[in-house]
Amino acid sequence: MTVTDTQSGTNVHEVADGIYRINTPVETPDGDEFSFNQYLIVDDEPLLFHTGPRKMFPLVRAAVASVVPVERIRHISFSHVEADECGSLNDWLRVAPRSAPLCGNVAAFTSVADLADRAPRVLADGEALSLGRHSVRWFDTPHLPHAWECGFLSEERTRTLLCGDLFTQPGAGQPPVTESDILGPSEAFRHALDYFSHTKNTRTLIERLASTNPTTLACMHGSGWRGDGAALLRALGDALSA
Ligand SMILES: [Fe+2]
Ligand SMILES: [Fe+2]
Repeated sequence: MTVTDTQSGTNVHEVADGIYRINTPVETPDGDEFSFNQYLIVDDEPLLFHTGPRKMFPLVRAAVASVVPVERIRHISFSHVEADECGSLNDWLRVAPRSAPLCGNVAAFTSVADLADRAPRVLADGEALSLGRHSVRWFDTPHLPHAWECGFLSEERTRTLLCGDLFTQPGAGQPPVTESDILGPSEAFRHALDYFSHTKNTRTLIERLASTNPTTLACMHGSGWRGDGAALLRALGDALSA
């Protein structure tokens, strides 16, 4: 693990072959520890999944630059439109002149075609995009866990699911990857903060994600996870339907 900013504690760790987690611990207004993670896939066409909040741009930029020159980034992707997912999208489009936003249909027509400084590249539900050695596939997951435009990317070579706000855990986000239980902590967090949308389609959406059989879950808040991702996703589905 490399610390790229000693003051904030921003750090970079390779969680799967060619996939780097950028983690910045933060303090909530209540004084609790929390964390924001972005994931960088290094390849012929490097992809950044989540930008971090706009005010965190210098930290994320320095962290990305410790792995790959920022001007090489080609795809700026994100699960849904919120500050921590895409707050510095336009800053990234500026420093990476060959890049474009990469998102689903709903995000493109509700928000991104207007608020981004460059037109988005749209991935249809289930569509794959080759980055070189890696290949990502987009899954629409409307309202799971929140936002109509919500969706996730599955990286097929490493079987990594970039699962955004699913399995959000409190704390600073260490270790970078764990094989211990993350469902318990994320369920405690969900019961404290009601951030899921209660969509009736939860089971179907979870089952599609589980069908990718992920072995690494690239969580946006807290530790990443390694293990039988399909089983853990189905356990989340059970908890959400209970
Ligand atoms: Fe979110
Ligand atoms: Fe988030």
